[in-house]
Amino acid sequence: MKQEENILEVKDLRTSFFIEGEEVKAVDGVTFDVPKGQTLGIVGESGSGKSISALSILQLIGHPGKIVGGEINFKGENLLDFSEKQIRQIRGNKISMIFQEPMTSLNPTYTVGQQIREALKIHQGLGKQKGTDKAIELLELVGIPSPQKRVTQYPFELSGGMRQRVMIAMALACNPELLIADEPTTALDVTIQAQILELIKELQQEIGMSVIMITHDLGVVAETCDYVAVMYCGKVVEYADVRTLFKNPRHPYTVGLLNSLPRSDVDQEELIPIKGTVPPPHDMPEGCRFAPRCPFATDLCHNHLPELKDVGDGEQIRCWIYTDEWDGDPEVKVYEPERTSENK
Ligand SMILES: Nc1ncnc2c1ncn2[C@@H]1O[C@H](COP(=O)(O)OP(=O)(O)O)[C@@H](O)[C@H]1O
Ligand SMILES: [Mg+2]
Repeated sequence: MKQEENILEVKDLRTSFFIEGEEVKAVDGVTFDVPKGQTLGIVGESGSGKSISALSILQLIGHPGKIVGGEINFKGENLLDFSEKQIRQIRGNKISMIFQEPMTSLNPTYTVGQQIREALKIHQGLGKQKGTDKAIELLELVGIPSPQKRVTQYPFELSGGMRQRVMIAMALACNPELLIADEPTTALDVTIQAQILELIKELQQEIGMSVIMITHDLGVVAETCDYVAVMYCGKVVEYADVRTLFKNPRHPYTVGLLNSLPRSDVDQEELIPIKGTVPPPHDMPEGCRFAPRCPFATDLCHNHLPELKDVGDGEQIRCWIYTDEWDGDPEVKVYEPERTSENK
């Protein structure tokens, strides 16, 4: 399963905020791969470190935040070894990002065309006429009607869905090899959301780019992703291909997420919330971060942090249950996947 080439390999990434002498570990040992041409979903509750992981990849972490460790290997080169100048050549060029709220990322005082042209000028050195032609072409590509007219309009003259399309057009201006989409549709209504996701998928097939899709919506994951990294408290707790994750979730947190979040194939009444709440950063449990909420936690879990371990078939789990050291009830091993011929 894992024979493919990875365009991005993030290893043990750690990003912290230093506030009043305290270290808040926002991203605390994140490891995942993005196979070339495929979509990796990053899921997890709000505050689990999804956005900070994405911003770390592009090194857009400002004071008082700092990347304190790990590797970000893009096409075999560790971006953390790059100079600011080298990173600028990657950012918006080889790796682009779209953000949750398109209004805050578009400049209200420039027309749509001016903004796309600016991106094209910086990264491809295109002049005014060529830039305008390419901007119109891009607006057409992302499904904006009458692009000749839209290119002269300001962001406030467009609907939310259209603005997000403009953001995507800008992100695609330089044919990125990797697109990072951070909750790209959360602010949009359901119909527009489906259109935007469909658009990203089409463009991916058309230009062969790889995608990181950040979301807290499991419906979006099922719809768009090939692989999934589940995050909890700044760590990846499970990494698997999307079918395995939905069919045989193994980490108790992943199981909890699947049972608690609305899905189209499960009745609302059948949802079971995960008990307890996410621990605050200043009061992280010493052992497994999920132990206080986990129905299967033993002393081992409460006192020692498990590593992210390969469990075969390219899957990785950060949970003591899947090790020989586990000292709990063997009956609980219900998360062992029951392989059907379908997902072998
Ligand atoms: N500017 C900041 N200053 C201090 N802490 C921050 C800042 N941004 C994020 N954090 C910390 O990082 C954690 C992860 O944030 P984030 O990556 O934005 O979460 P997500 O995108 O998963 O909702 C937050 O819970 C918070 O503790
Ligand atoms: Mg976020």
